[in-house]
Amino acid sequence: MFDSFELNKIAGSVLAGVLLLFLIDAVGGAFVHTDHVEKQAFVPEGTEMFEAGNGGPPKEVAAPVIESSVPLIAAADLEKGAKVFKKCAACHSVDAAKGNGTGPNLANIVGRATASADVGFGFSGALSGLGGDWGYEELDGFLRKPKEYAPGTKMAFAGLKKVSDRAAVIAYLRANTENAPALPVAEMVEDAVETAADAAEGAADAMNEGAMHH
Ligand code: HEC
Repeated sequence: MFDSFELNKIAGSVLAGVLLLFLIDAVGGAFVHTDHVEKQAFVPEGTEMFEAGNGGPPKEVAAPVIESSVPLIAAADLEKGAKVFKKCAACHSVDAAKGNGTGPNLANIVGRATASADVGFGFSGALSGLGGDWGYEELDGFLRKPKEYAPGTKMAFAGLKKVSDRAAVIAYLRANTENAPALPVAEMVEDAVETAADAAEGAADAMNEGAMHH
């Protein structure tokens, strides 16, 4: 067995060796990099694209990206949500006492079963056929383009194109839901914290075991 003095010596020489390698790499790298940069200056990246003569980036780049608003809900501004909800207020209320309007009452909507009977609203087959619950992703999908998400729905609303508007209005619906389901982002953070705590515990155990052997 090595005693700790010997171990320190070994660790010291390994460290010195690694430092030397870094130094060689850094000094050598400095020359290689200079050479590289000079070459790049004559042939800038992306030149070929314009030489091809089509006047712009390839079509794939311009394709619209469908973004989910869900990661933005946690940080969304409730006042903005209340403002966006004005677009919905012609047909919906989040006040349970106000009951249904042209659209069903939306109090406690987050996590509620889609088109649930207990609100006493005459849903279209399009909505009652959806099944499942109004989770965050489902609300995001529906509110982006109701007619695409639930073809044949009688909700006469074009949808909210902006992710930030959807995040805000979903945050507002969440604020008007008792015991709303946890936001996926919050869940992810909780999981990450748990994993980190487990890892730290494991490391502490390993260190204690190591100390006991000395
Ligand atoms: C012009 C009236 C109208 C507007 C504006 C409107 N809705 Fe609706 N909404 C409806 C109707 C009608 C339904 C029922 C649809 C069906 O049965 O097909 C509905 C259904 C819903 C549902 C499903 C409810 C459930 O219990 O399953 C949600 C969620 C919803 N609307 C949210 C919104 C939000 C949020 C807005 C604003 C961004 C909005 N709606 C704007 C009329 C409207």
